[in-house]
Amino acid sequence: MKRSCAPIKTILHLGSGAGRNDYVFKKHARVTGVDISPAMVKLAKKLNPEAAYHIGDMRTIRLEKTFDAVVDWDSINHILTTSDLKKAFAAAYRHLRDRGVFFFLLEIDKEQFQQNATKYFSNKEIGIEVTFIENMHDPYPRDTTYESTFVYLIRRKGRLAIETDRFLCGLYSIKTILQLLGKSGFQARCVKYKPGPEALENDGPARQKYYPAFIAIKKKGRGRTVI
Ligand SMILES: C[S@@+](CC[C@H](N)C(=O)[O-])C[C@H]1O[C@@H](n2cnc3c(N)ncnc32)[C@H](O)[C@@H]1O
Repeated sequence: MKRSCAPIKTILHLGSGAGRNDYVFKKHARVTGVDISPAMVKLAKKLNPEAAYHIGDMRTIRLEKTFDAVVDWDSINHILTTSDLKKAFAAAYRHLRDRGVFFFLLEIDKEQFQQNATKYFSNKEIGIEVTFIENMHDPYPRDTTYESTFVYLIRRKGRLAIETDRFLCGLYSIKTILQLLGKSGFQARCVKYKPGPEALENDGPARQKYYPAFIAIKKKGRGRTVI
């Protein structure tokens, strides 16, 4: 990213969640976050009072200003169709200055997807240990979604609580994403990010080989993308 564009002083984080990553981003740039969930925005504001947060949809948001970088960190997988993906890319485009950088990581790409794969990992902090078990299942392989089902084992002072969650995620090939980015006015490439062993030391056996990371530069003077 550093080689591709001018210094990044402002970041727009689309799907900013509870602001966990903004806690790091804000050490390097002024952060603005957008999330569809008011509860998430409330948590993010508490964690990062110096950042600006808005409740909004990453497909339709219009802040009427531009940023040096737009980041969809761990949130683009909530976009379930290619037509919504085009809207999300157009939103990133209209909030970037010329040669600004759009960065996001896919949870999983279609090439790597394995039917009914289950992964797990554990995290331990003082007084609490959480084990996440995630099952990925694609009931309709012809569409662009899969079903992600989570079981959380939460141990606090030896007491176990079990929570579950289920939601749909988008599933796309790297080629489809690169084509859509190109059509949306970006010069894009994909880097297969492989986390180091230290990042995976608590993970279970069904590890992914890589996470597809996309770095897309807004082409200069292309004009506004119309969807
Ligand atoms: C896994 S969390 C991402 C966490 C965050 N990006 C971070 O770095 O910690 C995904 C977030 O995307 C948000 N989200 C899902 N669909 C969205 C949409 N259409 N527009 C904006 N936010 C959305 C969810 O509310 C959730 O907070």
